[in-house]
Amino acid sequence: MQAKRMAAERAAQLVKDGMAVGLGTGSTATLAIRALADRVAGGLRIRATATSERSAQMAMQWGIPLVSLEELERLDLTIDGADEVDPQWCLIKGGGGALLREKIVASASAQFIVIVDASKLVTRLGAFPLPVEVTPFGHVQTLRRLGALGCDAALREQEGQLYRTDNGHYIADCRFADGIAQPAELELRLNAIPGVVDNGLFVGMASRIIVGHEEGAEELV
Ligand code: 5RP
Repeated sequence: MQAKRMAAERAAQLVKDGMAVGLGTGSTATLAIRALADRVAGGLRIRATATSERSAQMAMQWGIPLVSLEELERLDLTIDGADEVDPQWCLIKGGGGALLREKIVASASAQFIVIVDASKLVTRLGAFPLPVEVTPFGHVQTLRRLGALGCDAALREQEGQLYRTDNGHYIADCRFADGIAQPAELELRLNAIPGVVDNGLFVGMASRIIVGHEEGAEELV
């Protein structure tokens, strides 16, 4: 947790007065929200929009002014975690089930700052099962078509129930036995399947990657 905190605190320092900021989801993003809240308490003026109900709840509770994405013309930066980061800065996201809003918010941001600990750095994506958000309607067909792309797709469950995203969809966690060789191509092929809302591959989106360690944080170059 200390390494995640180091990355989160470094990223929170990049936020300047007057900025519109996207708040990510997950344990690392939560630490960034906390660090930002401390800066807001110290006088920093920002407007923020959240990528999940959980993050919105925390931001509200900790005093960060929230607005809906629709109220913002653009975002200056978004700070979010990731499940995997490869050497080309392609990401897997969605371990926390928020990938759709995360992708929408990140793509509306001038800068997308990714915060991770070193355990998230991989040479090839795919050891972490790729989350794919699917509509409940037709999900059995959709899962079959996901499987035809060479993965083992399983619906995510939580407390014995099918997991529902903030958008009311399911998540199919997709295991590719040999990892993901071509993330850009796979991202497009997945999203071409009817019933797929979006997937957790974030290709060409990260502007900066901050890696936390026990003793501090470094930025990838
Ligand atoms: C949520 C995400 C998270 O950013 C990702 O799962 C990393 O989480 P954590 O910071 O808890 O390791 O994509 O949908």
